Amino acid sequence: MGKIIDGKVMSERLRDKINKEVSAFTKDYGRPPGLAVILVGEDPASSVYVRNKERACKNAGIISFDHRLPTETSLTELTSLVKELNLRQDVDGILVQLPLPHHIKTDQVLMSIEPTKDVDGFHPYNLGRLLMGLPTVIPCTPRGIMYMLEAYGVDPDGKDTVVIGRSNIVGKPIATLLTLAHATVTVCHSHTKNLEEKVRNADILVSAAGRPHMVKGSWIKPGAVVIDVGITRDKDGRLSGDVDFETAKDRASLITPVPGGVGPMTIVMLLMNTIMLAKGHVA
Ligand code: GUN
Repeated sequence: MGKIIDGKVMSERLRDKINKEVSAFTKDYGRPPGLAVILVGEDPASSVYVRNKERACKNAGIISFDHRLPTETSLTELTSLVKELNLRQDVDGILVQLPLPHHIKTDQVLMSIEPTKDVDGFHPYNLGRLLMGLPTVIPCTPRGIMYMLEAYGVDPDGKDTVVIGRSNIVGKPIATLLTLAHATVTVCHSHTKNLEEKVRNADILVSAAGRPHMVKGSWIKPGAVVIDVGITRDKDGRLSGDVDFETAKDRASLITPVPGGVGPMTIVMLLMNTIMLAKGHVA
């Protein structure tokens, strides 16, 4: 049977290290690191994620400056707030929770964030640096995935790796990081023909489709490493990943559960990115 990659335990261990770093920063700089978190509208899933992020900041001793804006906020209003935060000395990172309401052009908002405060690494400048393999802010979920692989001794070098999903938040950056780590990467998405055949060949599978139970256990190559980024709430309120966990866990050598896999690591990476920006290590 496959071993479970316990993102919850791993993230709790990392939190001790983070708390120490935040204390040291606060002592050295006479103020704690600060993260501005902006949520536009009332998407229920985004509200939960943002609340968890803000709570994690507070528990770590990072100040979170919380901004809740109504759904009808205009692009100009949102970018004006971002520009104000760009200038504040006590704000080290700025996070605009995605997705934004449809009338707001996401790329314009992301481009209004000062790259040195871009805690998600979504600004084209930082994504470009990532593509070039230069030091940059690595988006939180992909950074968490790479951390888990390393912690469990999985070296992507030469491995056949399948990424399902091509979003700017997960699919594209994780495909880039795996390529930089010398994996052979196949990016699959809604137009991919014969997904099953692609998955069957994967030594490492990263699924970020957001479609519960889409990947069947029988598709998993025996001994493969399975990272499930999908998190969907069904009508009974239960959370499910993209991968049919119960059947996949017997074939995989390592597998992340949902919940308790990638999610907690994403939040910890947000804290680590905030500290890194506060120290001025990037851009
Ligand atoms: N929506 C889903 N994941 C993320 C993330 O990592 N950052 C932001 N800002 N929005 C998201």
